[in-house]
Amino acid sequence: MTEHAVRLGTVQETLLIPLYGRAVENRKPEPALRDPRAEEIVASIDYDFSRFDGQPSLFGSVLRTSLFDHWITDFLTAHPTGTVVEIGTGLNTRFERVDNGRARWFDLDLPDVIDLRRTFFSDAPRRTMVAGSVTDEAWADAVSGTEGPYFFAAEAVLPYLEEAEVRGVVDLVSERFPGSLLALDTNGPWVVDNQDQHDVLSKVEARFRWACADPAELSTWRPGARVLASHTLDALPTRMFEALPGTCRQMITDLAGRNLPHVKAYRLTLVQLP
Ligand SMILES: C[S@@+](CC[C@H](N)C(=O)[O-])C[C@H]1O[C@@H](n2cnc3c(N)ncnc32)[C@H](O)[C@@H]1O
Repeated sequence: MTEHAVRLGTVQETLLIPLYGRAVENRKPEPALRDPRAEEIVASIDYDFSRFDGQPSLFGSVLRTSLFDHWITDFLTAHPTGTVVEIGTGLNTRFERVDNGRARWFDLDLPDVIDLRRTFFSDAPRRTMVAGSVTDEAWADAVSGTEGPYFFAAEAVLPYLEEAEVRGVVDLVSERFPGSLLALDTNGPWVVDNQDQHDVLSKVEARFRWACADPAELSTWRPGARVLASHTLDALPTRMFEALPGTCRQMITDLAGRNLPHVKAYRLTLVQLP
């Protein structure tokens, strides 16, 4: 199999964590999600993934991805021709999992990630890759002009930005795409303060910069913004939880029983922007 050498920037390297999480999950007899493509990509990339083996956050990243899939599936059920924008898409394969044959889809990431992504994925009439930083307004021009409504998925991206940059992204999305949905994840100060001990982040150089004690803060940043849902990984939406295989449900139940501070301080939130 072709080996792709990975020459990624510091924060860009983090995309390999959820990619590997999905590949490992795919090998399980009862996975939370299937992702054969992630397994193929991992096999073809020249990188020492073994540093992440056995770490609980790999499964955590799979649950996070499953929740984002769940929210986007609901969005596309309500708006079959809506537009989904993956902010910091990495080598995510969500389009492969949730596309309904009618949605418009954009995958935004930094230029070196999009270069790597183009070795595995291609643009198509309803699917476009955009190279640029989410903090630079240029991407909004590439995305605007579609039918809408819009769903912005920022999965494991905003915690790597400074708070002022996150505020800038929320302002930009609200101003250019009013009324859109934004899914994001937030780390409380405990997680940021203890990140050098984080089971997978400690294996790479990138570090979290934005600490958010409560994602409800976003409604004070943009008056009119409303938190529609906010979950920890051990308290997922009932409908999603009940659709998971029994082994996954048991792992989540065990996790909830341990009351771990880093699990309680990590939230996945869906916001309706004004
Ligand atoms: C942990 S990875 C998550 C990748 C993907 N969302 C997933 O869940 O598989 C973080 C991603 O955010 C991207 N990223 C970080 N800062 C960014 C920025 N300013 N603009 C666009 N993407 C960014 C990185 O390049 C990387 O692909």
